[in-house]
Amino acid sequence: MDRKIPIIIDCDPGHDDALTIMWALAYPEKLDVRGIVTCAGNQTIEKTTRNALRMLTFLGRTDIPVAVGAAKPLVKQIEVKGTPIVHGESGLDGPQLPEPAVKPVKMSAVELLAQLLEQSEEKITILELAAHTNIATLFAARPDLIDKVEAVYMMGGGTVGNWTPAAEFNIWWDPEAARITFKTGLPITMAGLDVTQKAYITREENEQLRAQGNKGSVLAAELIDFFGRYHYEVEGFPGCTLHDPCAVAALLSPELFKGEQCNVDVELSGELTSGMTVIDRVNYLSKIMGRKVDCNTNVLFEVDRDAFVKAFMQAMKKLG
Ligand code: RIB
Ligand code: CA
Repeated sequence: MDRKIPIIIDCDPGHDDALTIMWALAYPEKLDVRGIVTCAGNQTIEKTTRNALRMLTFLGRTDIPVAVGAAKPLVKQIEVKGTPIVHGESGLDGPQLPEPAVKPVKMSAVELLAQLLEQSEEKITILELAAHTNIATLFAARPDLIDKVEAVYMMGGGTVGNWTPAAEFNIWWDPEAARITFKTGLPITMAGLDVTQKAYITREENEQLRAQGNKGSVLAAELIDFFGRYHYEVEGFPGCTLHDPCAVAALLSPELFKGEQCNVDVELSGELTSGMTVIDRVNYLSKIMGRKVDCNTNVLFEVDRDAFVKAFMQAMKKLG
């Protein structure tokens, strides 16, 4: 990778969002993080925004503008109470983090997204770690700016669910918004549950991470201590699932993953399946139905877990 990739991070921190921000900022020679926008999801918008600012304060990167994003989905009526069972009452329970040293910028997430895209000479890649409400609002209001986006790397969706039997949390939160993204025609790389549930870090590996001893590694291990409880105790997984970090890893190290180019759409109204990503892995729509459909998404299905964990640990070590 010769040039720095300009990126904007859309997130709802959230432990795995926080780990992803850390991974992205560990590689200033590869990634130019132009801004962070927040969304409600793992917690209320006030809490996810505070958490993004606390992370940047910890990492000494308060130069990165943070804008407050969507407090609610586009259409769905929802009571926003976060996911305390997964991320705690603060949205980032566990480690001691500093209070934010800066405030969010005085513009909305959509305004910041528009400004960053308008002002950039190069196209910008969007790292989508939450519901798509902010970017969908932008794409609907300013379709001219879709051309200024290089690609979308997203965590969300899958052939299985984690918030309902069929739906993954980020897509379930705002299915209408996600559908807008899938219809933009942009190159999309989707790290859904099929791959993220294979991208776990074990307790032993987390101890190795902590033993690296630098501030970044110790914080990452503490975030994983808290986040991992849900995966071990509730989901019964063999490790802590690093959902959102898969999106940045796919951008930095695509060779770690195996994906298939598929048509992906979102179920909006199914009684049991609302918020499910419908992944046409067998090309049913074109082969059987004879419909002209766009294989709009590189859906990641496999990860080299050992290499992924190694890359994650290297990134945390680099943070100092
Ligand atoms: O389903 C996992 C996703 O939901 C992650 O982005 C996590 O942070 C939560 O938002
Ligand atoms: Ca997230």
